[in-house]
Amino acid sequence: MRTIIQLKTLQATLSAVGDGKRVGLVPTMGALHEGHLALMHRARRECDVVVVSLFVNPTQFGPGEDYDTYPRHLASDQVKAKHAGVDFLWTPGVDDLYPAGDQTVVDVGAIGRRWEGEHRPGHFRGVATVVAKLFAAIQPHRAYFGQKDYQQVCVIRQMTRDLRFPTTLRILQTVREADGLAMSSRNERLLPTARAVAPALYRSLQSARTMWKRGERRAKAITECVESGLSAFPPIQGEYVALCHPDTLEPLHQITDKAVLLAAIRLGSVRLIDNIVLAARLSSPD
Ligand code: PAJ
Repeated sequence: MRTIIQLKTLQATLSAVGDGKRVGLVPTMGALHEGHLALMHRARRECDVVVVSLFVNPTQFGPGEDYDTYPRHLASDQVKAKHAGVDFLWTPGVDDLYPAGDQTVVDVGAIGRRWEGEHRPGHFRGVATVVAKLFAAIQPHRAYFGQKDYQQVCVIRQMTRDLRFPTTLRILQTVREADGLAMSSRNERLLPTARAVAPALYRSLQSARTMWKRGERRAKAITECVESGLSAFPPIQGEYVALCHPDTLEPLHQITDKAVLLAAIRLGSVRLIDNIVLAARLSSPD
């Protein structure tokens, strides 16, 4: 595996690889965990060349958010990516992706405004802008994302469609710790007491799934089930629980077909999100 900093070096290297090779891209912000590695393993199986971008993207963090304290572990990330069979680890600097004078931003519209978009204004503009830059720079055949960030996937899908990127999106299911907590780079910042209660997020979503399996279809009953599961653990501050249409993310009052249940909490200074899809026949997300 080669670590490359400069975009022009990466582009020259990729063009030397030759036409007809299938290039897979896994965009990340580093502090790699099993969730990231699952995306890399899948890309390795499906592509001739695997590129992982590692870039803590400043434009997707709001003022007062955790840009400065976001975990950064380049040396161990290099080892993990190498073991996952990655060919190129691209670690651009901020000036490489946002050179002086850049003005263009990508705003996908309504799908990025609700839920995370409401609690983190400008977040999805930053995500869509950086992913568009990555797609334009690398022109991957396939790009790999996790369902853990459900709304992010919706935003990137919309952006890819609207800007006519020829990249195929591959969405993989959420990788979890043994106790159900969705893996996240931010988990390492949880204090032990917070880590102990964090699995309540997924457990509450699962209780709602059980209700739904028993026939409950009212959104209010389902979201209240999650909220009461969370309120049993005082250190958890719920931010939102939303039952929505899986494609538009519009809130639902009643489930008629498929739905997605989204939730965000705060545990001290750490913000965690999770989701589950409620569908009669669970089609694999990938
Ligand atoms: P990051 O949080 O590093 O996540 C990189 C990719 O890994 C995303 O597609 C995310 O959904 C996926 N991922 C994270 N945790 C996962 C888990 N537990 N199971 C499966 N996949 C998981 O998401 C970002 O970075 C950034 O917003 C980015 C897309 C790179 C743009 O800056």
